[in-house]
Amino acid sequence: MLCIETKNLRKKYASTVAVDSIDLQIESGQVFGFLGPNGAGKSTVIKLLTTLISPSNGEISVLGIDSSKHPLEIRKKIGVVLQQPSYEPTLSAEKSLDKYGMMWNIDKKTRKKRTEELLSAFGLEEIRKKKMEDLSIGQRRRVQVAREFMHNMELLFLDEPTVGLDPTARRKLLDFLRDQVKKSGLTIFYTTHVLSEAEYLCDNIAIINNGKIMAVDSPSELKNRFGHEKTIKIHISTVSEELKLKLSKIPECQIKLEPEPTVVITSTKSEIVLMNILKILNETETKINDLSAIPTNLEEIFLKVVGDSN
Ligand SMILES: Nc1ncnc2c1ncn2[C@@H]1O[C@H](COP(=O)(O)OP(=O)(O)O)[C@@H](O)[C@H]1O
Ligand SMILES: [Mg+2]
Repeated sequence: MLCIETKNLRKKYASTVAVDSIDLQIESGQVFGFLGPNGAGKSTVIKLLTTLISPSNGEISVLGIDSSKHPLEIRKKIGVVLQQPSYEPTLSAEKSLDKYGMMWNIDKKTRKKRTEELLSAFGLEEIRKKKMEDLSIGQRRRVQVAREFMHNMELLFLDEPTVGLDPTARRKLLDFLRDQVKKSGLTIFYTTHVLSEAEYLCDNIAIINNGKIMAVDSPSELKNRFGHEKTIKIHISTVSEELKLKLSKIPECQIKLEPEPTVVITSTKSEIVLMNILKILNETETKINDLSAIPTNLEEIFLKVVGDSN
């Protein structure tokens, strides 16, 4: 089933086109990543999809509901954690969860059970009695995400939820989210500018830049599509004229002299090119100081995709 569908979605703020003709088709039961640099339009898309703002043009359907006709129906079925902090300063972490459950009409027994589960799952047991205003940014953020799970929802929107979290808390959150999707068929729309996170968590990723979608695919397909090229760097001690001459006959490599003499191979068949170059280095008695291969990761793909569109 399609969980989110947009057609020609656009949002303009005065002279800024924040979202530019976005067509999305997102299947349910997955974590869908929305990956892009600051200002790309991620938060604007979340606000549009959660009916908090209206589009300038285009159509939005969420859980099969037309957002221009029945925005409240959509809001009843979704959870949202926006980037802006939202909490009652004097409420304790556990009260904050409980109160949120009350707002969603969850019965007392279920609230109690869920509060315990969530405090444990989010590593918040030790600070459960602390007031929200006394928590660190990361702790508050965790309470904010945790409380969304007090109610039953089909679709959850998270706008850069890991900002301010330390690596352990971050990993714990990502694993919790994965687990929820697997267990309950929940769909999560997840924005981030952190590539490793998108790669770890998401089933599919849309790369967004300047309000436009540059690519949509699974992390491994994105790597296949954009990641055939590999870079190998060979740091050498000296560069002789003979070496320069011989290397100039190999098209897919170049010599850099600064900051240290380096032969750089950028090729889709970098291993084969490497063999030829090692032979030449041997013939010219060039000493190799160090050799490094840079595998293609999503970060390089991201920079390439975003860079190409600027
Ligand atoms: N309320 C607003 N008024 C004017 N411009 C805005 C507003 N909200 C966002 N923008 C602009 O729209 C663009 C996209 O912003 P945003 O969706 O917040 O990006 P992201 O979440 O990817 O960092 C940016 O250029 C931003 O400055
Ligand atoms: Mg944002």
